[in-house]
Amino acid sequence: MEMIETEEEPAWAIAIHPRMADARWGEHASASRLHEFEQLVLSCDCLLKESKEVPIRKIIPATLMGSGHLKSIADIVEEEELDVIFVDHNLSPVQQKNIETACNAKVVDRTGLILEIFGARARTREGVLQVQLASLNYQLGRLVHSWTHLERQRGGHGFLGGPGERQIELDRRMIRDSIKKLQQELSLVQRMRSTQRVGRQRHDIPTVALVGYTNAGKSTLFNRLTKADVYAADQLFATLDPTLRKLELGSHQSLMLSDTVGFVQDLPHELVNAFRATLEEVIEADLILHVRDISDSESPMQKTVVEDTLRHLGLDGDHCPPIIEVLNKVDQAPEVKSRILDGIDGSRVAVSALTEQGLPELIALIQTWMQQDSTRCCMKIHVSDGKTMAWCHQHAEVLSENLVDEWVHFELLLAEKYLHQL
Ligand code: GTP
Repeated sequence: MEMIETEEEPAWAIAIHPRMADARWGEHASASRLHEFEQLVLSCDCLLKESKEVPIRKIIPATLMGSGHLKSIADIVEEEELDVIFVDHNLSPVQQKNIETACNAKVVDRTGLILEIFGARARTREGVLQVQLASLNYQLGRLVHSWTHLERQRGGHGFLGGPGERQIELDRRMIRDSIKKLQQELSLVQRMRSTQRVGRQRHDIPTVALVGYTNAGKSTLFNRLTKADVYAADQLFATLDPTLRKLELGSHQSLMLSDTVGFVQDLPHELVNAFRATLEEVIEADLILHVRDISDSESPMQKTVVEDTLRHLGLDGDHCPPIIEVLNKVDQAPEVKSRILDGIDGSRVAVSALTEQGLPELIALIQTWMQQDSTRCCMKIHVSDGKTMAWCHQHAEVLSENLVDEWVHFELLLAEKYLHQL
């Protein structure tokens, strides 16, 4: 399946928040979740006309909500001439079809919305293929031809429209054929990617992955950290994958920094697997920077979601690289800042990616981590041995360098892995 970009007007949407009687979150968390869902809807190029909370005392298997609620949504859709109903819940194919029929508009559930967002953000070939695969599998379970009876049809909008509509006309066999082809292409792309990784490991460049809840500020931080890096544009990996750049920290220290897709709560488990491609850099990272929006009152919940997702990826205990918590957006939370700074230690740093406040401290922390396995050593090299001296400058931090007779006395800070080469 292909995503088609159109010049068409964005779709008008309503966001529905089913509020379950047994919901584990309270009033405040509910408002925050509502806001988050609205942000997710907005981030897939839809115009949000209205949001509506729907209390649900008992789930109706056919339609999720009762007929009264359904009728009032249908009235809003008709009055406001809306195109899409986003439901902040996972719907069964039957529920989705019945709500569409009752309201005469396209219905997208939480998984569908997240797929849409990931689809728009997948930047690597592998990421795009993974999203297409997850989307086809999702559609396979939803082949109920719910759209054909509708009066109004729209094109465009990635999975919401054009290609999605056409796809739904295909029978299961054709979708299965497409899945097979995608899987073949994927394994080819994955083989190419692992060759690139081997290349990187051979050069001993540590990889640092930025992870975090959606909207935490990862991409802003990624751009701030890499923009001053004159080498970034020249890098092989930068041209292959814009979310992976080389970062020079000075003193002959460099690393590969990777940006990743944001985590959200209730991310369907099968999607986590489908997006292993995007998260592979995290799995193989030497260091993780966990970016947190410290100005958000839901920050503790978001932290839990990110940590749980990392565990799902198998990053647990000994398998987990060291994590530095980057407490972002302190410019918006000055009162939190002083509290955080009291308890700051070697694994946390308060920053503002926007104002660049705290970025030198973050870089210093990363440098400290990189030097952790470094050894201070002294050696003398004969002046005629230019090759070894050049090697030292290339691979070590030169603390001092003095010429005594015909010998250059070096004091070096050298990573463990280079000791044997010396
Ligand atoms: P996803 O792509 O959804 O995972 O988001 P992200 O984590 O990459 O966040 P992104 O960098 O797109 O930033 C989200 C919003 O937060 C943007 O509007 C940024 O301008 C804003 N933002 C990022 N960092 C800061 C900060 O330090 N302070 C303030 N005030 N806003 C920030």
